[in-house]
Amino acid sequence: MGQDSKPTTPRVETAKVAWVTGASSGIGRAVVLRLAKDGWTVAASARNGEALAGLSADARGQIHAFPLDVTDKDAVLSTVPAIENMLGPIRLAVFCAGTYTRDYAKGFSSDVLAETIGINLIGTGHCLEAIMAPMVLRGAGHIGVTASVTGYVGLPGGASYGASKAALNSLCEALHPELAAKGVTLSIINPGFVETPLTARNDFPMPFIISAEEAAETIVAGLKTGRFEIIFPWKMALAIRFLHLLPHTLRFAITKRMLP
Ligand SMILES: NC(=O)c1ccc[n+]([C@@H]2O[C@H](COP(=O)([O-])OP(=O)(O)OC[C@H]3O[C@@H](n4cnc5c(N)ncnc54)[C@H](OP(=O)(O)O)[C@@H]3O)[C@@H](O)[C@H]2O)c1
Repeated sequence: MGQDSKPTTPRVETAKVAWVTGASSGIGRAVVLRLAKDGWTVAASARNGEALAGLSADARGQIHAFPLDVTDKDAVLSTVPAIENMLGPIRLAVFCAGTYTRDYAKGFSSDVLAETIGINLIGTGHCLEAIMAPMVLRGAGHIGVTASVTGYVGLPGGASYGASKAALNSLCEALHPELAAKGVTLSIINPGFVETPLTARNDFPMPFIISAEEAAETIVAGLKTGRFEIIFPWKMALAIRFLHLLPHTLRFAITKRMLP
């Protein structure tokens, strides 16, 4: 490690307190449960307060509901101090809040684009803004941002969704070196297909699909390594990286088969 990448602030060891967004269902919920099993105290956020209350009721004090809408910047900015006042400094933040609306050139609506970017990109941006400063101040912490393999290649049906996830990959790549120099680890999580309410409405074959529990297991294990990219399952990772390497003529020859 070069001189420039050494943390400039002394590292502060804190208790195992995590903050997870998108915690009311799917991958986020499974990550909350997996972390709790590993002995973490977890602050769980999403809009559906009832689902969060259900999660915490089953967890013997380890899971705490902090309902919020990630598009509400003030709510996000005030949630981090609220969590830290109650549970202590957040050592791990995993951002899973996200939305997906299938969209094509036919019937394309910038409203769908705005909503998708608003939740997936700007909403995650609000969470990053809220958590980066306290972690940098402590010279410690780990942030995991959930994007998608669709961030690698624009796929028919995922126009707005893929754009939001490509942007998250770029955003995190840009922030990573600076945060690393301050002692804060940033990881990008790029899942392939995972069985959740988000994919339940897909009526096309979803290759290499895995359960939310398997996804959470892989995410938590990947976060433990501290590596930048957590991409899975490996067969999907291989396929999407191959597609990404192809020239556009060949890429389009493949992706046009995904048109309805
Ligand atoms: N499933 C897949 O195949 C797959 C693949 C790659 C990436 N991903 C990504 O993984 C993440 C989790 O997706 P999932 O599949 O688990 O979907 P999901 O079951 O639909 O979960 C989405 C979560 O995001 C929360 N959320 C949505 N809008 C929000 C908002 N404005 N403010 C706060 N929370 C909000 C939802 O809770 P509320 O409705 O209660 O707010 C829910 O907890 C997403 O970022 C998704 O893009 C999923």
